[in-house]
Amino acid sequence: MHTPEPDRSDAACGLQKEEQVFRPLSNIVSRANVTPQEYAAALELAASDFKAYWEEAAEELGWFKRWENVLDESEAPFYRWFVGGRCNVVYNCLDRHIDTPNKNKLALIWEGEPGDSRKYTYYELYREVNRFASALRKLGLLPGDRIVIYMPNLPETVIAMLASAKIGAVHSVVFAGYSAKALAERIQAAEAKAVITCDGYYRNGQVLKPKPVVDQALERLDSRLAEVEHVVVAHRAHVETPMRKGRDHWFDDLVRFEPPEALTEVMDAEDPLFFLYTSGVAGKPKGMVHAHGGFMVGVHRTLDWVFDIKPTDIFWCTADAGWVTGHSYAIYGPLMTGATVVMYEGHPLYPQADRIWRLVSRYGITILYASPTLIRMLMGFGVEFPAAYDLSTLRLLGSVGETFNPEAWMWFYKVIGRQQCPIMDTWWQTETGMFMISPLPISLLKPGSVGKPLPGVEADIVDGAGKPVPPGVRGLLVIKKPWPSMFRELYKDPAAYKREYWEKIPGCYYAGDVAWKDEDGYFWIQGRADDVVNIAGHRIGSAELESAVLSHPDAVEAAAVGVPDPVRGEAVKFFVVARSGAENVDELPEVLKAYVRQELGPMAVVQAVEIVDSLPKTCSGKILRRALKARELGMGIDDLPGLD
Ligand code: WT7
Repeated sequence: MHTPEPDRSDAACGLQKEEQVFRPLSNIVSRANVTPQEYAAALELAASDFKAYWEEAAEELGWFKRWENVLDESEAPFYRWFVGGRCNVVYNCLDRHIDTPNKNKLALIWEGEPGDSRKYTYYELYREVNRFASALRKLGLLPGDRIVIYMPNLPETVIAMLASAKIGAVHSVVFAGYSAKALAERIQAAEAKAVITCDGYYRNGQVLKPKPVVDQALERLDSRLAEVEHVVVAHRAHVETPMRKGRDHWFDDLVRFEPPEALTEVMDAEDPLFFLYTSGVAGKPKGMVHAHGGFMVGVHRTLDWVFDIKPTDIFWCTADAGWVTGHSYAIYGPLMTGATVVMYEGHPLYPQADRIWRLVSRYGITILYASPTLIRMLMGFGVEFPAAYDLSTLRLLGSVGETFNPEAWMWFYKVIGRQQCPIMDTWWQTETGMFMISPLPISLLKPGSVGKPLPGVEADIVDGAGKPVPPGVRGLLVIKKPWPSMFRELYKDPAAYKREYWEKIPGCYYAGDVAWKDEDGYFWIQGRADDVVNIAGHRIGSAELESAVLSHPDAVEAAAVGVPDPVRGEAVKFFVVARSGAENVDELPEVLKAYVRQELGPMAVVQAVEIVDSLPKTCSGKILRRALKARELGMGIDDLPGLD
């Protein structure tokens, strides 16, 4: 591994010189769920006994049976949390609200792209989930079975996820923008028994049809490895949809006669709740497995503290249900806290760039959690759009997925937040399941920094040998103690779980990010240390990108590197060696751009394709992506730590 050299240049230290800070506002501090005194006490408790800290957090939730042991480290890094505990996250999201005043409170406000909307109280959502849970049981789905959900942000997506968890099945939501190839890989890897999708949905003024994509994906499956017995199709756009008798079912038909009550499966705290696949450097998607007990504890505590959720809040996390943000903080987390959640189906700029602000004012949203890419996109349209709407209900803002550049941070703070709303820039990952490093509403804010590790999280910046580096020096971000909502394994690949996360830096969880800490202990994230490109907060591994481009007959060698993109943070640049004898090489870059999009879906934003005679390689023949990237950025190869 490349060890980052001490580097105190301006480039490494970002804002440190002309740093701007924002003190917490007194009206926010006086009402915060966590006071400065409580925060100090939590830090102290977590530092002396982190298990006791998380045990206290677990006590805030409902359990069928209390755990016997908070943490079992005997088979580290395969940690087990709340050992012996019995629970189900859905009990905390729905069941337990039904005996409280939350019963008739709005749980979900959903808006479709055409402007139609549907609202569900906690009681209504509970009943819908129960009906679908019974329907899934009737289809023969059992605890532990895997269900792939291939749908955009629809109420049925929420219902399908919760119903799956309710019966103890394991869901794997696949982003609806993924291609048939990517979907097939994920269905196969999860060995799914059922797929849930919809007839059509609205995106950017068009009706997209996921069901034929599911059909294509199922045709690609190796039936020895996965057998999908059922496909459930929800109505949304009411478009003509091919249905195969026996295998395919309409969602509405399945739930029509089901009763509004259903048993919530009593799960072991360590039983899997969901998988999410992220793109790894090895080219094969990695299935991150999250468990009921720890996931609910970590997500509930961090959401309550960081976003300071009150019973009156209307919370909107703009993420898609297909990403971990959609799981933890658009659905499971806010429902556990009893908040009212807003969900939107469509494109954020449709029919024009005021859609987000229209939604905020229409529903009186109080907390808005978005990505820097979205904010930069909206910023590009100027202040007129936000100025035309009443955004005064907003009281807290949040960001995730990529480094928030101070310029966009300031725009969000001033134009959207009227300098009244603290911005919670939350650092975490699909692997972590919950916020790990983030300010709280009571914290001093530094634009561009993700603040400090939350109580119960021990994060540090180290060199390649695991030695902490001093403030101002960039290094590798690691986590030094287990945390409850950590992923439990890479599905069926324990060796890779150990190798990729726990053995790179001795005794630590290796996050794969390069970062540095300032004198106050604030963390500044610089980007990925591995061959992963972060496009608009979505990770795509170089290997996956390269194998997509290489499946085109005219590309014989390829290297993919992330290059700066003013809106998306990063986009991909390909260096491609063309097949000798390939025709129309001049047109090849455009052809390959379109080809990759078709292979991987719209997240794979290709900025450029450069046709080259050869690729730089190490003496062992590994492509030196770091050299290509350094050249693109106009830097020396050694300025980029750990990229190869
Ligand atoms: C990677 C994880 C967690 C949900 C979204 C992405 C980057 C995440 C921040 C932030 C700078 C961030 C890191 C991380 N990242 N949050 N606040 N500031 N970078 O989930 O696909 O698992 O990606 O996103 O590089 O490793 P993911």
